[in-house]
Amino acid sequence: MTDRETVTAAQLFDEIGAGYEAAFGRPPVVDAAVRELLAALPEHARVLDIGSGTGRPAAAGLTAAGHRVTGLDVSAEMVRIAREQVPGAQFHQVDVRSFTSPEASWDAVCAFFPFLQMPRRDTESVLAAIARWLVPGGRFSLITVPHDLEDALVEFLGRSLRLTSFAPDDLIARVRDAGFEVLATRSEVFAPDQPGAEPEEHLLISARKPVADLRRG
Ligand SMILES: C[S@@+](CC[C@H](N)C(=O)[O-])C[C@H]1O[C@@H](n2cnc3c(N)ncnc32)[C@H](O)[C@@H]1O
Repeated sequence: MTDRETVTAAQLFDEIGAGYEAAFGRPPVVDAAVRELLAALPEHARVLDIGSGTGRPAAAGLTAAGHRVTGLDVSAEMVRIAREQVPGAQFHQVDVRSFTSPEASWDAVCAFFPFLQMPRRDTESVLAAIARWLVPGGRFSLITVPHDLEDALVEFLGRSLRLTSFAPDDLIARVRDAGFEVLATRSEVFAPDQPGAEPEEHLLISARKPVADLRRG
C-alpha cells in the first residue's frame, strides 16, 4: 500500500456518488439529529449543512419542513446528486475550510461526517468558524466516527484513505473549547448494508451557541 493509492475526500465521494446513500442512507443518529433540529428550530430557519452529501436525509428533511437549507460539499458529484434530489435547497461545491459567511448568519449548522479527512487543527478552525457563523442560541449538530486516529490508513467501501478523527471525550472537549454548550451526546454502532462496509461507531454531539458569550466576561 502506498500513499499514491489513497484518495482525497473529493475524489472518494465523486467515485462513490449515489452508492453512499445505498450503504449509509439512514444511520439512526442522523435521523435522531434531524428530528432534534426539527423540534428546536424556529420557522423558516437558515440551516447550513456542511458535507451535505446526497442531500438525504438531512437537507431533504429540513427543507420539507420549510427551513432554508444551504449545503456545502467538496465533491462535485455529491453536489450534482443533492441538487437533483433536493431542488428546494441550495448546494455549493466548496471545501468548508475555504467557506466564509457573515457572523450570526445561520440558525443551525449540521456537520454529519465531513471532518474525517482533514487534519485536527483544520477541524478546530472550522469549529471556531461555525461558532462565529451561528446566531446566539443557534444549534450545532455534529456527527462523526469517533476514534483516536491521526492520518491512519483505513479501508472504506473498498478504497484506501487516510482518516483523522478524535476520541469521543476529546472531540466533545474541542466543541466546548470552540465556545459551544454541549446539550447532549448519543453514540451508536451502525452496520451499513453494503459489501466492503464494516460496522462503525457514530457519535452525535448536540450543541448550542450560548445566548451570551460567557468567555467575554
Ligand atoms: C460521509 S459523507 C456524509 C454525507 C452526509 N452528511 C450524510 O450524513 O449522509 C461526508 C461528506 O462530506 C464531504 N466532505 C468531506 N470533506 C469536506 C470538506 N473539507 N468540505 C466540504 N465537504 C466535505 C464529502 O464529500 C461527503 O459528501
